[in-house]
Amino acid sequence: MDKIRIRVEVNGKPLSAEIEPHVTLLEFIRVHLGLTGTKEGCGRGDCGACTVLVDGEPVLSCIKMAFQVDGCSITTIEGIGENERLDILQRCFVDHGAIQCGFCTPAMILVAKALLRRQPNPSRDMIRRAISGVLCRCTGYRKIVDAIETAAGEQGGGR
Ligand code: FES
Ligand code: FES
Repeated sequence: MDKIRIRVEVNGKPLSAEIEPHVTLLEFIRVHLGLTGTKEGCGRGDCGACTVLVDGEPVLSCIKMAFQVDGCSITTIEGIGENERLDILQRCFVDHGAIQCGFCTPAMILVAKALLRRQPNPSRDMIRRAISGVLCRCTGYRKIVDAIETAAGEQGGGR
């Protein structure tokens, strides 16, 4: 099968790659780039675990083909913070106990990031709506909403 060349920016670094047309964005990120912070849950658009940001907006990478993001800027959890220098959202998730098994956490952080960029002062309902596409089996969501609300407050938003 003929490969397709794509040019993308991933976590701020430009790169070009040749991929087969059937490769999903999730497979491209995890297998081709080795960025395994993006999780694979259902693989069919239901659970949200595979969410990444494409040009700043949340996208389910398991149902997006890699060639469709040619020319786009992609942000994965690896582009958000580092072990020694956590992003404010990551720190608030830790502080609030909003991480248990951690499987949903990369996606939760990324949808929260997109929300706070769009709306620095979200209500709890807005936060709930923003994270509604990402399933969490562990936390019951309240601590996640608390963490995002606190991060918004620390960033200068908040109610
Ligand atoms: S793995 Fe993509 S939505 Fe579940
Ligand atoms: S912390 Fe386990 S799925 Fe959310």
